[in-house]
Amino acid sequence: MTMNTFKIALLPGDGIGPEVVAAAREVLESVGDRYDHRFVFDVHPIGGAGIDAAGEPLPARTLQACIESDAILLGAVGGPKWDKAPKRPEMGLLELRKALGLFANVRPVMVHPALADKTPLKEETVAGVDLVVFRELTGGVYYGEKKRDAASASDLCVYTATEIERIARAAFDAARRRRHKVTSVDKANVMETSRLWRETVTRVHNETYRDIELEHQLVDSMTMHLIRHPREYDVILTENMFGDILSDEASVLAGSLGLSPSASLGAAAPGLFEPVHGSAPALTGQDVANPIGAILSVALLLRYGLRLHDEAASVENAVSRTLDDGHLTRDLGGDLGCRAMGDIIAAHVGAARGFAAHRLQMQWG
Ligand code: NAD
Ligand code: IPM
Ligand code: MN
Repeated sequence: MTMNTFKIALLPGDGIGPEVVAAAREVLESVGDRYDHRFVFDVHPIGGAGIDAAGEPLPARTLQACIESDAILLGAVGGPKWDKAPKRPEMGLLELRKALGLFANVRPVMVHPALADKTPLKEETVAGVDLVVFRELTGGVYYGEKKRDAASASDLCVYTATEIERIARAAFDAARRRRHKVTSVDKANVMETSRLWRETVTRVHNETYRDIELEHQLVDSMTMHLIRHPREYDVILTENMFGDILSDEASVLAGSLGLSPSASLGAAAPGLFEPVHGSAPALTGQDVANPIGAILSVALLLRYGLRLHDEAASVENAVSRTLDDGHLTRDLGGDLGCRAMGDIIAAHVGAARGFAAHRLQMQWG
């Protein structure tokens, strides 16, 4: 077999970011050993670490390394240390997404049977949940003009029909490969951007995707529907801020925010893969964070970043086997540390046993 070399930009970031990224890297190295790939890691600071090292949350060299990479793996940014910094750590991530044109943030949520009784919801409510959030990532209120004086502040929310159309098409295409249902979430009863959102999604549906079932939901009641009957959802399509909020809520269906992975994809640039959670300042440095969100982000990096499908499945399978065996971190009631969890999953990848009964196969296209 010829050895393929892949260049991975590794951005550990802040808080628990470096801990979960170390576990994810170990799993990726185990994939390399098993499948004869060479992963070359180019490690760079972002967020607070970027501010400390280079005075900027997105140092120019970090951005350059990302542009030159085959895929980017990121931990998390932010923390109380930089609350008063002139530019916050989070700006580094927002600038990176914008600079690379990563408009589609895809956040799958699947419930592993071994965890169905570990959520605050009833087991019969969450068992079998398999949904994916398509969150628009480079527009909306995150990127509109911001103003501030002593007594007032404003954040402008802007969307163009073009921006809405491209994320809508990505979501409909995904639904075609899944269960053929899209739920578009907006606030069309109040917001002009949401009215354009709903019109555009409806037009794209009529033009190209009549085979897909489309429903519209207002975001407030959607938060309620999502935890009352989560199995009804297949692809959830929404704008930047609603997607941010709904995806944290959806992660609870699987058991913990620490389990959720994400992929941020654009038309041409390398993809960015990161857990949905943040830097969890209270957990930092204790080796207690759940690394599975970061490790499943490695599975997405392999499948959607490098097109290595068997390799991606081997990671999902290793996570599933580990959960089957009852290994859990503290967020799920267990006592396994972050590093130990990474070791076990990496060993499963290397062991190349058969497929687990319930593989967490996170696939949308
Ligand atoms: P958070 O996601 O860091 O934490 C929310 C809760 O989930 C906390 O109780 C935390 O302990 C728990 N948690 C998160 N990840 C976990 C894991 N892997 N294992 C176990 N438990 C986990 O959100 P927050 O506290 O609102 O934000 C903290 C900082 O992180 C802020 O500066 C915020 O801006 C930043 N943040 C960054 C990202 C990112 O880098 N993509 C995402 C969200 C928040
Ligand atoms: C996320 C985070 C980011 C976001 C922050 C850190 C800017 O919450 O990736 O979900 O709001 O997009
Ligand atoms: Mn978020």
